[in-house]
Amino acid sequence: MSFSEFTLPESIRKAKPQIGLVLGSGLGGFVDALESPVSVDNDEIERLPASGVEGHAGRLHIGTLGGVEVAIAQGRVHVYEGWTAKEVASTIRLFHQLGIRTVLLTNAAGIVNGNFKPGRWMLLTDHLNLARLSPLTGSSQFIDQSEVYSRELRELLKAEAAEAGTPKLSEGVYAWVNGPEYETPAEVRMLRTLGADAVGMSTVPEAIQARALGMRVVALSCLTNYGAGLSGQPLNHEEVIEVGNRAASELHSLLRNAVPAMVEI
Ligand code: HPA
Repeated sequence: MSFSEFTLPESIRKAKPQIGLVLGSGLGGFVDALESPVSVDNDEIERLPASGVEGHAGRLHIGTLGGVEVAIAQGRVHVYEGWTAKEVASTIRLFHQLGIRTVLLTNAAGIVNGNFKPGRWMLLTDHLNLARLSPLTGSSQFIDQSEVYSRELRELLKAEAAEAGTPKLSEGVYAWVNGPEYETPAEVRMLRTLGADAVGMSTVPEAIQARALGMRVVALSCLTNYGAGLSGQPLNHEEVIEVGNRAASELHSLLRNAVPAMVEI
């Protein structure tokens, strides 16, 4: 038997989900789409990091969507809370232990490419790891990163979005920064110069971990606000959450069809 990092509660020990979703800030409402869900708090899973904030431990839900068994991690921990990149990526190793080989990651991000609009969704084509941290530190896994975000899965999501009639998905490069403070205008200009289209504080460690385990990855950013200096307005966390909540329903209709289709390719 292979090594199992996590000790699972009885209620999910026999689950065989095929796809794993990580839902970022304001996007957790999608769990309501699951049929016959079984839910556990992250602090019921031994060795899985759980945020110490009461009521925000994060939850894992396993249920079916369009006949396909799916696991959803609602809420994630971040490096800015003091977790290591390896700890942040624990959810992905848990998904792998459950047998999942395809993951979809979502996040809230600031706009760096001035052609993009708040409230829209961006498919990640690639990333810049500007936090300069890795979940693989301590190992010698020299993994290839030529195509972290599966082209095949991106094409599928674009086709599903076109069919669902949701606005076209933007595509671009996501820069991972440590946070928790938002960027300065000079930093946003620097990010643009470096080739970023959006900036955020998550997702990249999970994507790296998933690729190291041979999993297929696709990721979506909810563009919640213009990066500092692009709009002349100060940034505020409440607004980020609110725009995320509004954009979420569009994502829900997309995911309802696209996620079950992801097992077939
Ligand atoms: N910067 C970094 N992370 C973010 C932002 C931002 O402007 N908006 C949402 N997450």
